[in-house]
Amino acid sequence: MKAIVLVGGFGTRLRPVTYAVPKQLIPVAGKPMLYHVLDLLPPDVEEVVLATGYKAELIDAYVRAHPPRWPVRTVPEAEPLGTGGGMKNASAGISDPFFLLNSDVLAAVDLTGMRAAHAANGGIGTMALYEVDDPRPYGVAALGPRDRITAFVEKPEPKDAPSRWINAGVAVWGRAALDPIPPGRAVSFEREIVPGLLPKGVYGFRLSRYWEDAGTPERILRAQELLFDDHRGGPGGVPTGARGSGPVATMGAVSVRDATFGPYVTLGDHSTVEPGARVENSIVMDGAVIERDARVARCVLGPRARVHAGHEVVGQVLGEGAEA
Ligand code: GDD
Ligand code: MG
Repeated sequence: MKAIVLVGGFGTRLRPVTYAVPKQLIPVAGKPMLYHVLDLLPPDVEEVVLATGYKAELIDAYVRAHPPRWPVRTVPEAEPLGTGGGMKNASAGISDPFFLLNSDVLAAVDLTGMRAAHAANGGIGTMALYEVDDPRPYGVAALGPRDRITAFVEKPEPKDAPSRWINAGVAVWGRAALDPIPPGRAVSFEREIVPGLLPKGVYGFRLSRYWEDAGTPERILRAQELLFDDHRGGPGGVPTGARGSGPVATMGAVSVRDATFGPYVTLGDHSTVEPGARVENSIVMDGAVIERDARVARCVLGPRARVHAGHEVVGQVLGEGAEA
């Protein structure tokens, strides 16, 4: 089986970091978000097709430099085609059925089990679903007998939400699901296509462990906690010469002396944390600097961002090269 991973979108809710870095390359628990998504794929997947758009060249360069364990091909789009248009654009040579993954969901999903459930259900599609308190920002499914999806509403008004079970952004689809997508224009798969596929049999696959759409600063940091707690964090504990408690994931060479860490920190390559500084629940990207006696909590610091000596920065997103 092959997989299409949707890697477009501007990551607007993670600006200003996403002005420089596509959200899929933001490190979470020691590796780019995209690589946590790929980790869900069974080892026997034959090919992964990345449907790219915004900053496609950065994604392309990253996967060339850090080849995942599956053969990967990127199919860029000149204009954003939306989720459905991106799928269609990337679908040449795709398997029947295929996996469809959003690139910003950090979750525990057994894709081998899901593939088996899809075969047993015999329908055109199987969508992983997760129960949330507030379904409004998501696609929402109503379920009938055998968890067949009987209605699907993308981003409903509260009164129109048919349940609290939402599209987790992980699915198995038959090739025929691509047929109704008009080529060459932007199409929302969830709004324009999925409702029309329901008569062909679309089933829910309920997730029970954890799930997060890492599309906002709060949620990317929450996802980082979940991944660390599930032991899916990258290598390394508290860096040598530092104090505190992990988990701390270190990506490459870092310069750290006499600082206090944790919990839940990612340190990018060539980042610096000076003596007396304290860092917790944060993502510190490549080349960022936290000066002496500064405190950083619940932050995403973009590449080469700098927190000045003695400053306290809480709950902020700093763009590339920004100072606070
Ligand atoms: N190739 C391509 N082109 N990919 C795109 C485009 C595009 O124009 N726009 C968005 N994507 C990718 C994003 O990178 C993301 O991985 C996925 O498609 C979904 O886009 P989001 O912008 O993150 O959508 P959402 O979070 O509001 O809603 C989607 O995900 C929810 C779960 O997180 C929908 O699939 C909902 O139904 C779902 O509940
Ligand atoms: Mg999303």
